[in-house]
Amino acid sequence: MTDTIKLYATCPNEITDLLAKEISAIGGTNVKTGYRVVYFDGTEEVFYRAHLQLRLASRLFRVIKEFPAHSPTIVFDKAKRIKFHEYFKAASAVKIGVTMSGDNKVEGHLVGTKIREAITDSFKHYVKQDANISSWDATVNVQAYVHSNRLMLSVDTAGKSMHKRGYRMEGHPAPLKETLAATLLNLCEYDGTIPLMDPMCGSGTIVIEGCMMAMNKAPMIHRKKGEFGFEELGFFKNQIWKQAQDDARAGQKWPDTKFYASDIDPQHVEITRESALRARVEKYLEIEQKDFFDTKKPEETGLLITNLPYGIRLDETQLDEDFLKRVGDHLKENFKGWKVGLLMPEDAPFKAVGLKPSRKYPLMNGALNVKFYVYDMY
Ligand SMILES: C[S@@+](CC[C@H](N)C(=O)[O-])C[C@H]1O[C@@H](n2cnc3c(N)ncnc32)[C@H](O)[C@@H]1O
Repeated sequence: MTDTIKLYATCPNEITDLLAKEISAIGGTNVKTGYRVVYFDGTEEVFYRAHLQLRLASRLFRVIKEFPAHSPTIVFDKAKRIKFHEYFKAASAVKIGVTMSGDNKVEGHLVGTKIREAITDSFKHYVKQDANISSWDATVNVQAYVHSNRLMLSVDTAGKSMHKRGYRMEGHPAPLKETLAATLLNLCEYDGTIPLMDPMCGSGTIVIEGCMMAMNKAPMIHRKKGEFGFEELGFFKNQIWKQAQDDARAGQKWPDTKFYASDIDPQHVEITRESALRARVEKYLEIEQKDFFDTKKPEETGLLITNLPYGIRLDETQLDEDFLKRVGDHLKENFKGWKVGLLMPEDAPFKAVGLKPSRKYPLMNGALNVKFYVYDMY
């Protein structure tokens, strides 16, 4: 029998249920949601699959140990018994992060100090080596989460944040995070069978993520060797990781539909082209420079999702009533039979669109409160 690994994935609090579904779909068990987190269990296979396949998770952690944390002394006593050398080398630069919630008898900064001392002590005791605690060049991120006097000690196994898929071409001033683009597609229940269009595509994130979904393509397949946190860790099983990558490639298929991306700015169109090329989806995308107000539905039915331009993040068209009314009028005239999703700042005068949304979702775009409105265009 294989051992069960305890894991958790973080995400914005609005989408924990969606992420829980994704985790169950890749074989995670005992899936439970918390505040901005989804806990789950998995086999070694599920562990590597999660790093490749989850589209909505921000970060992934593997639990090392859970223990009581009523005082700094208890934290030190429990943590120093952990054989940290089985998790990372003495030479690996380690940083310690602490998150606290609920009522706790111990203060967060003391938890950090005691875990640091325990790691140092453990390396000295078990392998007679000095640990390398260093936050500025850390390659190993140990995370202590204390909730109501219980500590969950874990290690960040994704490394970089999981929106960093490895295909993005930099240069657009206000790109969506790939995880947010995948969220919008999920909220529209996109299953990859109907055409997808983003007529203000910026760097093309929504359409590229949608195409990858339609291809059943693992979102993290383009990350390079050395870019996942687990590669540095003692439990890394290269064979199972390789198998997970082979399985992901074998599960890929041609998309059954087309993808349309356009933007008024020729530089943004070029960025979309380059990112699509890096994501190896370029042959399924029709990318062109076009004003939104000149676009027409390319097929009878489909899904249009766009992240409207706004002055806060882009020094161009203001998202005022007049612009939103023009957007609404153009959609009514030219996109009958389509489903439409519009992402805009929470305080945008969305009623000016002149359409009744069938659903609204509050979300965060970076530090900005935004709302995603979904319309059925009859
Ligand atoms: C907020 S950005 C979209 C970012 C995009 N979702 C991404 O992930 O990179 C809005 C985009 O709308 C484009 N835009 C502004 N007015 C437009 C118009 N009338 N027609 C087409 N695109 C327009 C801008 O050039 C900009 O790239």
